[in-house]
Amino acid sequence: MSLSRKVLIVGSYNQDLSWKTSNFPYPGQTVLGTFHMNPGGKGSNQAVAAVRAGAHATFVGAVGKDPFGAAAHTFLKNEGLTIHLVEKTEAATGTAAIMVNSAGQNEIIVALGSNLLLTSEDVPDALLNEASIIICPLEAQLTTVEGIFKRAKQAGARTLLNPAPMPKHLPPEILKHTDIIVPNEGEFAQLISQIEPGFDTASILADLSTLPHQAIHQACRILKIDHVIITLGEKGVFVSSPTEYFYLPAIPVKVIDTTGAGDAFIGGLTTSLIENPNDMYKAVCFANCTAALAVTKPGAAPSFPLRPEIDALLKKHLKDKLV
Ligand code: RIB
Repeated sequence: MSLSRKVLIVGSYNQDLSWKTSNFPYPGQTVLGTFHMNPGGKGSNQAVAAVRAGAHATFVGAVGKDPFGAAAHTFLKNEGLTIHLVEKTEAATGTAAIMVNSAGQNEIIVALGSNLLLTSEDVPDALLNEASIIICPLEAQLTTVEGIFKRAKQAGARTLLNPAPMPKHLPPEILKHTDIIVPNEGEFAQLISQIEPGFDTASILADLSTLPHQAIHQACRILKIDHVIITLGEKGVFVSSPTEYFYLPAIPVKVIDTTGAGDAFIGGLTTSLIENPNDMYKAVCFANCTAALAVTKPGAAPSFPLRPEIDALLKKHLKDKLV
């Protein structure tokens, strides 16, 4: 088992092009809004969230030979990450078109570009061997993720899969090599229906306040993954492990922009797990606070909190017994 205290994130970097508008346009409609450009991509966001939360984090990704790729280098270095960015000349750096409405909800289209050219071989053995947790979101080829997770397990690291965006068919080999999976409720429902078609996940998740949590726990166990952590947005988070399950409500905050909230959660979660590998409850509380702070500011990575802010919120809510 690896004794390292580093987290390695292998995944996407995208240039986020974001428009804030009152209401999402319906097909054929033109609406007015304001525009911002930010660094993004689920992998890069998760790496930034982890390093800001206090982890020693390394990011491996692929960018194009273009201004967005050059900006990625500068941004990630300035954040204090160890980076291994592979330049791919055959494709442009990934981009994301993001719309955010007045409720802070978002709709996103991603052109993955160079992210799709990243291979497992692009990840040096040395980086895999020095990590105790390896995170992969799915803005990459599935064969790349499968290769990395197999190597991660051989190296004795824990693997965390963020199945976003959820593909039509997630290879069982990836799930077999996953220790912790963090889907949102839609991704969880898709996952279960791929493994057990006909299983009514939607109604299980529909009303957390009335349904016994045992039913959700049983649905999680279908995945045969040690830790299943379903992020439920403003409804909170449900956690199922082999010997326990628990639910935490979201921390009430004024929501400005939910873009990257799931990424902030994962960065916070892994930072805490690096510090206390066996304390999943503490890690989820810490992650809940990280995500709550992230949604109070615009953008994805730029909204992620620093460690003292997370610790202060955690302390306050532990005192109020809200987490
Ligand atoms: O999770 C949010 C991210 O999804 C954005 O930064 C965007 O780039 C897409 O990858």
